Amino acid sequence: MYITGRECGQIFAVAPMMDWSDRHCRFFHRVMTKKSLLYTEMVVADAVIHGDRNYLLGFDGTEHPVALQLGGSDPRKLADAAQIGEQFGYDEINLNVGCPSDRVQSGTFGACLMREPELVAKCVAAMKAVVDVPVTVKCRIGVDDQDPGPALDDLAKMTWEEGSDAIWVHARKAWLQGLSPKENRDIPPLDYDRVFRLKDENRSRFIGINGGVENLIQVAEHLENVDGCMLGRAAYHNPSLLREVDQRVYGSSNEPITYDAVIDAMCGYAEQHISQGGRLNQITRHMIGLFQGIPGARGWRQVLSTEAVKPGAGSEVILKAYERVREPAEAA
Ligand SMILES: Cc1cc2nc3c(=O)[nH]c(=O)nc-3n(C[C@H](O)[C@H](O)[C@H](O)COP(=O)(O)O)c2cc1C
Repeated sequence: MYITGRECGQIFAVAPMMDWSDRHCRFFHRVMTKKSLLYTEMVVADAVIHGDRNYLLGFDGTEHPVALQLGGSDPRKLADAAQIGEQFGYDEINLNVGCPSDRVQSGTFGACLMREPELVAKCVAAMKAVVDVPVTVKCRIGVDDQDPGPALDDLAKMTWEEGSDAIWVHARKAWLQGLSPKENRDIPPLDYDRVFRLKDENRSRFIGINGGVENLIQVAEHLENVDGCMLGRAAYHNPSLLREVDQRVYGSSNEPITYDAVIDAMCGYAEQHISQGGRLNQITRHMIGLFQGIPGARGWRQVLSTEAVKPGAGSEVILKAYERVREPAEAA
């Protein structure tokens, strides 16, 4: 399988998640998996063009491979934003055709673009014309009363014709009336078979699946059928699973990184961030789930959520929280 500019076998990806997959979160995830593809939160094309680019697009050099997800539906603006993203060093530009929030619908982008495959194809064409990195699409299987047969087929076909390098499908519809974005991630039923069928009918295309995947056993099962598997909430809430991705998905012979090494890397990163005027909690809020299911996890969460928010908090808070994991009985 080949995505333009990047020879790849199968891909494990951490999903774009607004307010969650920011640069600090991605750094943390990258400490645990060197090979996964990490996605930014969606950034609206207009913001990229007119906003504070360093703030919106800046990332740490260790984050590669990292994909910038854009929101928008104006081909010219998306092309400009994609070009800026490429100049910033992103390894891929991804177009959001799956987000159902009201804010997104009023701007005519996100999931409602499932109804406008020709426009999405124009957006892809415009971005492909100006960047060398892969341009990809993340979509749903349909919206509202759309028949997911033609809805997904048309979108996939039209975007491939304009050079889209991959399609990631969140394997459920978005219902644009009456459901919150959060409900739209749970209530419309998952239909993995729809995505597998797309792959069966388009063997040479890169097709990734997303939605409701909870662990690496399920990832392996999906990768029997499609080229990529993308995790959102499971990776965020239980990030420790990322420690085994390089071995189990990519066949790396390295041992999973130890917790000691994760903590060490994050303390160094936190100190650097704080020395540049940042706050500890901006980093540690993404680390709350690290010890999920392990004795002492409660103490870890408690220390981080109460002490990392205090003015002047530094990496000693991470170490203190980690002590509670190592000695849960005494600390309880
Ligand atoms: C907090 C949050 C924010 C999200 N923001 C985005 C986004 O910016 N762009 C996008 O394409 N999807 C977004 N999503 C959807 C995820 O990328 C993913 O498609 C969805 O959560 C289903 O995958 P999961 O079941 O593995 O979480 C978001 C999901 C969550 C939980």
